[in-house]
Amino acid sequence: MNIEHRKSSSIGVFDSGVGGLTVLKEIRRVMPHEDLIYLGDTARLPYGTKSPQSIARYACQAAARLREEDIKLLVIACNTASAVALEALQGQLAPLPVIGVVEPGATAAVAARPGAEHLVLATEATVRLGAYSAAITRRDEKASVRELACELLVSLAEEGWVDGSIATDILQRYLAQLAPHERAPDCVILGCTHFPLLRDAIAAVFDEGTAIVDSASTTAEVVRAMLERLKLGNEQHRTGAVRLLATDGASRFARVGGHFLGESLAASNIELVDL
Ligand code: DGL
Repeated sequence: MNIEHRKSSSIGVFDSGVGGLTVLKEIRRVMPHEDLIYLGDTARLPYGTKSPQSIARYACQAAARLREEDIKLLVIACNTASAVALEALQGQLAPLPVIGVVEPGATAAVAARPGAEHLVLATEATVRLGAYSAAITRRDEKASVRELACELLVSLAEEGWVDGSIATDILQRYLAQLAPHERAPDCVILGCTHFPLLRDAIAAVFDEGTAIVDSASTTAEVVRAMLERLKLGNEQHRTGAVRLLATDGASRFARVGGHFLGESLAASNIELVDL
């Protein structure tokens, strides 16, 4: 493929469901001239309760499907798949650049609160692997990190039930597993791409000064810098197109995905694919 053709190729983005649209939205904000293609593996959601072997297999299949679209860069817009499969995908897909969301999330957290006590809210698989603890302490040796699995928040976000007492009651139930001092962190990291949709409900259960960070905007910056370094950015004067693919439930994807993107989506615009 010649370089001009590669510049005009799409950026591929995938997640287990609609959560990664929070990352897609930021990429589109930072690079409105790029074409984007998003795949939500809704048929197999959630990834977070599955074994690393299954998650790695799903992530490889999603990446392979996007690669068929001649993408120029792949974003794993899922913390769970990033924690489990980033290195494997980088190795398998080289020289295609592959970017995960855990490292950018850790960068955002350390920038927001240096030397802080961090609380990571994430899926069971992400917490089990301790990916955020490793990524944060590598950047900031004074930081301390506690990770808490909050799997039900994924379902709440997919259902669009993002406010009110249901969200706060579920959160309080998870937080009850922590020691009292752990319930007042300096910084809360939304370590799952579904959780930015619950940002207000999450902020409401912590002290007012607590920083709430997610990886979406830092990931978009990493993508922008990578395309610039590789001289793979598309023409700046154009408006990029967005294609949305899902493995199941086009109407549900459109309904809930609309919340994540902040615009209404039609089910007829969601392409159903098999992996
Ligand atoms: N959105 C995904 C993440 O960032 C995972 C949700 C799930 O499938 O469990 O971890």
